[in-house]
Amino acid sequence: MGSGLTTAYDQDTLRSVIREWKAEGLRTALVPTMGALHDGHLELVRRGVQIADRVVVTVFVNPKQFAANEDLDKYPNDISADKTMLESVGADLVYVPNNDEMYPTGFSCVVSLKGPASVGLEDKYRPQFFDGVTTVVAKLFNQASCDYAMFGEKDFQQLAVVSQMVRDLNIATTIVPVETVREPSGLAMASRNAYLSEKELALAPSIYNFAKQTAANINDGMNPKEAADATAQKLTDLGFRVDYVEARNANTLDYVKNNNEPMRILTAAWLGKTRLIDNIGV
Ligand code: PAF
Repeated sequence: MGSGLTTAYDQDTLRSVIREWKAEGLRTALVPTMGALHDGHLELVRRGVQIADRVVVTVFVNPKQFAANEDLDKYPNDISADKTMLESVGADLVYVPNNDEMYPTGFSCVVSLKGPASVGLEDKYRPQFFDGVTTVVAKLFNQASCDYAMFGEKDFQQLAVVSQMVRDLNIATTIVPVETVREPSGLAMASRNAYLSEKELALAPSIYNFAKQTAANINDGMNPKEAADATAQKLTDLGFRVDYVEARNANTLDYVKNNNEPMRILTAAWLGKTRLIDNIGV
């Protein structure tokens, strides 16, 4: 940990601060975020502080990963609260670029993956999402050139896609997965939880609780697809609008062929106007 939190608004400042740290032989970790920070993000920073000497957090609500009908305009945003939280966990630098800094006039590039970005999970329901994520993350990796980058397992497919991009493009940043942080109720922490009404907040932990039951059923020998389909039905009965509940191979995200594969239960479901995603290992 350094001494205090510095803010950079442009890539030249970001690069020059990080260059100085590197010249001193310090190891750096990057935590890409869209702000509206919660304890899940802070856990990424805490892990960064453990493995690196300096931690850089990026706060940029990336328009390219939102579809026209999504919540870009109302995405929660409070940079001064974010900075207070980041200081409390020992982040060293927060990078807050604006749209022009990230996507100047004439910007023409799309970083687009197949493989884990094309398995019929988030990509099926949010077709624009991963191109937006990989494009912005590739830019952030190039701008910051950090040794490590911290990604939460909560966005399990995103973690797989970014890891694949780093391998494919030989990016010299090591991806560090960090376990999902949960509310005492079991609900996975997420910035969009702020949209949930009191009634929805009471229902939302069912996603996690049912997933645990699904995993137990599969471990007891139940067919993974049947177990996942039964869970989707239970969520529907409770009032969720389910996009998917799937048991997938934890490494490839392909459909599982038998109960002995490393497996992950992945869920995406709407409660009212809020889309929730979560996943657990089997
Ligand atoms: O997970 C997120 O918050 C975003 O998808 C990310 C990785 C910061 C890219 O905008």
